[in-house]
Amino acid sequence: MRGLPWYAKLYLTAVIAVAFGLLGHGLAVGRFERVDWSTLLVLALLFLVCESVPTLLNVKQAAISVSFSAALAAVVLVGPPGAALVGMTAVFSVRPGLALTKRLFNGAQFTICGYAAGEVFVRLGGVAGVPEIENFEELILPFAGAAAVYVPLNFALIAVMLSLAAQVDRVPVRGMVQLLASYLGYATFGLLIAGLWATVQSISAVLVLLPLFVARWAFGQYLAQQRSYDATIAALCQAVETKDYYTRGHCTRVSLASTMIAEEIGMGPERLRAIRYAGMLHDVGKLGVPTKVLQKEGPLTEEEYAAIQLHPMRGLEIVRGIDFLDEAFAGIMHHHERHDGTGYPMGLAGDEIPEFARIIAVADAFDSMTSDRSYRGARPVPVAIEELRKAAGTQFDPVMVAAFVKAVERDGWEAPRKVPVPPGEEAETVVIKDHDDPTTPIQVVSER
Ligand SMILES: [Fe+2]
Repeated sequence: MRGLPWYAKLYLTAVIAVAFGLLGHGLAVGRFERVDWSTLLVLALLFLVCESVPTLLNVKQAAISVSFSAALAAVVLVGPPGAALVGMTAVFSVRPGLALTKRLFNGAQFTICGYAAGEVFVRLGGVAGVPEIENFEELILPFAGAAAVYVPLNFALIAVMLSLAAQVDRVPVRGMVQLLASYLGYATFGLLIAGLWATVQSISAVLVLLPLFVARWAFGQYLAQQRSYDATIAALCQAVETKDYYTRGHCTRVSLASTMIAEEIGMGPERLRAIRYAGMLHDVGKLGVPTKVLQKEGPLTEEEYAAIQLHPMRGLEIVRGIDFLDEAFAGIMHHHERHDGTGYPMGLAGDEIPEFARIIAVADAFDSMTSDRSYRGARPVPVAIEELRKAAGTQFDPVMVAAFVKAVERDGWEAPRKVPVPPGEEAETVVIKDHDDPTTPIQVVSER
């Protein structure tokens, strides 16, 4: 609580006061007298398990979805005051390290949501208690009304808290709408639990929620796998950038620019992930090029230039065994092909060049131009854009250039800061001719 601004503290106090007010009012008018305490106890335990499991699985994205099902089942089975009490148990959720303020806020907001949803349920003609099987259809409309209040109210209370506590700069409206839709879907499982309660009582919760937990466990495994993929790629990038100091951050920026182009031309999520990896790894083959060639000052011999030109193939050899890279292989191998067919390693032209490679070529050259190099300063973004436009149709695919220009004009581009010479490094040892820089071609001298 100490770190919260005063207006966030005021909001927190107000939410807790409203929650206590609702419970107190329910008690004063005798609304708890008709509550079935044994059902409430089971539902409260169920809610508590649902609230605690997200942390055990470490799946933040799905942190509250399953507990919505239990809370809305409580609306039907134990009515507004019971649903409020069930929500209040969030205070006791088993989440190691969860601050008391957050526990109090969670408990209070779930209490308010439960009470409000219960009220709507009753006002739309719903009767609190274990439903009769033959009257199941009569439950649907009141339940839909309750869910339509519970989920958005929960989101609104949390969104206000997050923005007041300045934990987010702005509420991500698009993401919230997607979550809202998915949680409304989860909420319908509450109806299923309530409907089955008449026949199998508390086992209905296990029957309904077990498949959900299994699905979430699988999702958790998937996220963990994605994280390990990202860590693998980051480690390879780190290796390349350690060898080639002046290109620090280049992999990440090429990955970002490639993703901007891919999004602009409408690629789906799977391919977007693959192009992100391809951008990160496009120069991994530099690990197979002698450092003295990469860092050589002045013109290269034909042999040295051939060693540079081998890096796309070397890159492919290095990552060939990583099967999740899929289409990224083509991007790594062909990112130095040119639209007019004069690039390397295969001399492919136009549409023969894989789409990933055509995207990376634009992103790669742009980042090189807008970064500092030892032999020249960073070019301003408009100058680099102009260079891309000039080379569209010869070096680059004009479609990819147009897509990138459109994305940069809309979203902007943050060029990297100047790279300081690493302590202890002699300036001469980091003089590098960047093979990606289209404005300063590498000079090659014949050895004969
Ligand atoms: Fe390259």
